[in-house]
Amino acid sequence: NWKMEKFAEEMIKELKERIGNEKVILGLSGGVDSSVVALLLHKAIGDNLIPIFVDTGLLRKNEGKEVVENFSKLGIKVHYVDASERFFEVLKGVEDPEEKRKRIGHTFIDVFYSEAGKLAKEVKFLAQGTLYPDVIESKAPERKASAKIKTHHNVGGLPENLPFEIIEPLRYLFKDEVRQLGRTIGLPEQMLKRHPFPGPGLAVRIIGEVTKEAVKTLQEADYIFIEELKKWDLYEKVWQAFAVLLPVKSVGVMGDYRTYENVLALRAVTSEDGMTADWAKLPYEFLNHVSKRIINEVKGINRVVYDITSKPPATIEWE
Ligand code: XMP
Repeated sequence: NWKMEKFAEEMIKELKERIGNEKVILGLSGGVDSSVVALLLHKAIGDNLIPIFVDTGLLRKNEGKEVVENFSKLGIKVHYVDASERFFEVLKGVEDPEEKRKRIGHTFIDVFYSEAGKLAKEVKFLAQGTLYPDVIESKAPERKASAKIKTHHNVGGLPENLPFEIIEPLRYLFKDEVRQLGRTIGLPEQMLKRHPFPGPGLAVRIIGEVTKEAVKTLQEADYIFIEELKKWDLYEKVWQAFAVLLPVKSVGVMGDYRTYENVLALRAVTSEDGMTADWAKLPYEFLNHVSKRIINEVKGINRVVYDITSKPPATIEWE
């Protein structure tokens, strides 16, 4: 696509001119948007880009490691911060979904800036992966229904009045254009096709209190679900797919024994933009296979259910 190539070329040239020899920090999540911004900036200013990846402890299994490796293959050194202990600490005893989101958001900002301060004395710019729809929504906040339903937190959603100039190279692009741009500048396919993942991570997929043990259980179940979706060639057919750990126990039987363990819900949806969504009509044989694997392999779960609610009336995430 020569148009996109030209666009990318000009964008990189512009960034180079605007930034000069200054330093730029970027909160990297491993998602498509921040990854494209990282690669663009790396092409423009090389190691003056400081990408920071905050491991909240609430990520998918192996995710932190994979993000660091993927970028390292692209020649980009990611500053990895393991802040998981802090996040578990602030989440202790918290059950309310909004309270979880708020605490995670504040802790993230704290960790991100204190880390940025350690990495560079003088940082002039902060880069963000803001897209055109975010720009429109912030100008007409009444249109952003979901913002009123949940306090969205993401790596791009940092507070105003910061001592940085903001760089938003994607602010005139839609999601599909960001993917095209990413492809043009050489971001690997598997990074371009990742499902969206919420800023508060697995914390909003564990109903009730978030503990290390619950995260571990959920990570294992989620890993099986995603692995099987890929094997069955279904991963790219859905907008998002994930597991939710419920604070509900039910009775089961395994061999000759009675079990009394947690229920796990699987959720998969199709969508254009996340604003509305349909529950995905995944094949029964597939669901059967995933359910059996999860119950056999994941300790603490003896029942799997599939969420058959669309958005609206439900939201995509459970919290
Ligand atoms: P809901 O659950 O509101 O989610 O239907 C719509 C889309 O947004 C994602 N989501 C978030 N993304 N920070 C994010 O960056 C958040 O706090 C957040 N909450 C939900 C959700 O995964 C879905 O794709």
